[in-house]
Amino acid sequence: MTDPDRVLAPFGRRRSEVVANEATGGYRLISAVDPEGPVPRAGQFYMLTGERGWGGGGERPYLPRAFSVADATADDRGVRLSFLLEDVGPGTGALAALAAGDGLLLTGPLGIPFSVPDELNPDAAGAILVGGGIGLAPLALWRRELASRGVPERSLLGFRDQAHSGGLELFRCSEVRLASEDGHAGHRGYVTDLLGVMLEGDAAASAAVYACGPPAMLEAVRALCEARGVEAELAMESPMACGYGACFGCAMPLRGGDYMRLCVDGPVVRSSAVETALVAGAGHR
Ligand SMILES: Cc1cc2nc3c(=O)[nH]c(=O)nc-3n(C[C@H](O)[C@H](O)[C@H](O)COP(=O)(O)OP(=O)(O)OC[C@H]3O[C@@H](n4cnc5c(N)ncnc54)[C@H](O)[C@@H]3O)c2cc1C
Ligand code: FES
Repeated sequence: MTDPDRVLAPFGRRRSEVVANEATGGYRLISAVDPEGPVPRAGQFYMLTGERGWGGGGERPYLPRAFSVADATADDRGVRLSFLLEDVGPGTGALAALAAGDGLLLTGPLGIPFSVPDELNPDAAGAILVGGGIGLAPLALWRRELASRGVPERSLLGFRDQAHSGGLELFRCSEVRLASEDGHAGHRGYVTDLLGVMLEGDAAASAAVYACGPPAMLEAVRALCEARGVEAELAMESPMACGYGACFGCAMPLRGGDYMRLCVDGPVVRSSAVETALVAGAGHR
């Protein structure tokens, strides 16, 4: 699998405190200070539970929910973690309703992060980041990590429509091209149209591609990169109950017939490791 240079989670679940909860387009950007946690790497995720509004009285949600870390900065109070979320059900709804001062219980950082371009492809000239909808979250932190390593990067971000878009401020100082299916921003069509054009250039064959988004988009990225012989990493999603390898709820097929547990063997996966990214039951629309 990919780079095992993951940051390990401290044992058990701990309390962080929400310091901001802002709307960004159709999404929420929630920031919390984790007083004791390590600084995560881009591509890793946390299992989150709201201290307020989480079940009780026999109501959903019971289990924590998985979220990629979209930003992380350390200061003398701890690590400020930011999560970009789309309210699609009871768990994301409860998190979206948290206010400054509320507790956010977290386990993490979990999973395997993105690999730096020269580990993914020794000839890599630069990185191409491809995000679809809320899938831009882990790419925002990855963009910052790449910039701090001096790696040139270009970001391609696609959205279904205006209601399903946001978080663009996380990509300030980056070369960003936009696509939208309804034409409200940038190219009218899919973000993979932009990737296809970019991969036609000779220099692009040595690029390292990093993608996160809905399964259909990830599968289009995987197929394009395979056809052009370009190395890619895909940040994938599956239903996760524990996040650390115990429940097998996140099992996903590998090329060749074996299975992985996406929470410990991913969520960042080499595109060559899977036959398809279009797995039933996985990921957002
Ligand atoms: C590693 C990982 C990172 C993620 N990062 C983010 C993130 O940065 N921002 C964000 O908004 N969401 C992220 N998700 C998805 C998020 O965990 C789900 O949206 C959330 O669990 C839904 O919970 P709910 O109670 O609100 O909705 P539910 O009622 O549980 O589900 C509502 C809808 O979302 C779908 N869904 C449920 N669980 C998942 C899941 N794990 N993945 C994809 N779709 C799901 C269901 O099929 C259903 O259609 C991530 C998931 C994983 C596995
Ligand atoms: S979420 Fe439990 S094993 Fe992966």
